[in-house]
Amino acid sequence: MKESIVLFGPPGAGKGTQADLISELTGKPQVSTGDMLRNAVSKKSQLGIEAKKYMEAGLLVPDKIIIDLIKNRLDDEDSITGVLFDGFPRTIHQAEELEKITQVKVVISLVVPDEEIIERIVGRRMDPETGDIFHITFNPPPEEISHRLIQRKDDTKETVIQRLASYHEQTKPLGEWYEKLGKLISIEGNGTIEEVGKNITEAISHIG
Ligand code: AP5
Ligand code: MG
Repeated sequence: MKESIVLFGPPGAGKGTQADLISELTGKPQVSTGDMLRNAVSKKSQLGIEAKKYMEAGLLVPDKIIIDLIKNRLDDEDSITGVLFDGFPRTIHQAEELEKITQVKVVISLVVPDEEIIERIVGRRMDPETGDIFHITFNPPPEEISHRLIQRKDDTKETVIQRLASYHEQTKPLGEWYEKLGKLISIEGNGTIEEVGKNITEAISHIG
């Protein structure tokens, strides 16, 4: 059975920022349900039109939509030896469904306090050409690409407050669920990007 890694944490914890490093260390491709949904929204597909309402309101997209998306993605050739999930699963139901299709080896949980989250998210900028993630203060973009950077529609203060509420209500309990299974590795996510990367590298070398 495929063996996957889950990157877990609140919105703005640094999942997308650290995913490249973990992919490099483990050889597993990043599978971000948030990126897949944004792609569907920009294509205006049926799925995108449905998902958009939830995303812009800061609510979780219904489990059925997400699980179908993941099942299709795991059929792709590059996922044969497992993937690095970013932002999935987010409910206990999603995790139970995931157990049926792949084995979760470890869950890397980035721990960042709520106070830090809003500043991180409101200052985030994305490069639509490369998918690279920046922050106006904490990780400023190179001058020559700053004209093309965009801000995510759900990166407003109001929406972040709702996203955090959804996280605490529906996703945080999943961390406890994985902890009981002995799969959770908590990483201090409240340092610089480099420090968090170091913490992850150390933790991953322990799991081999
Ligand atoms: P998704 O895209 O997954 O958003 P999220 O979980 O809210 O997480 P983010 O992408 O906002 O944050 P991140 O942890 O990746 O942080 P990043 O590295 O960018 O989901 C979007 C929406 O889609 C959801 O709200 C929901 O509606 C739907 N959805 C997705 N998956 C779903 C699922 N499984 N079930 C149901 N619905 C689903 O960093 C953030 C910022 O901080 C950046 O600017 C970065 O430069 C900066 N930063 C990163 N690390 C540091 C650091 N150490 N110090 C300072 N700044 C830092
Ligand atoms: Mg992300």
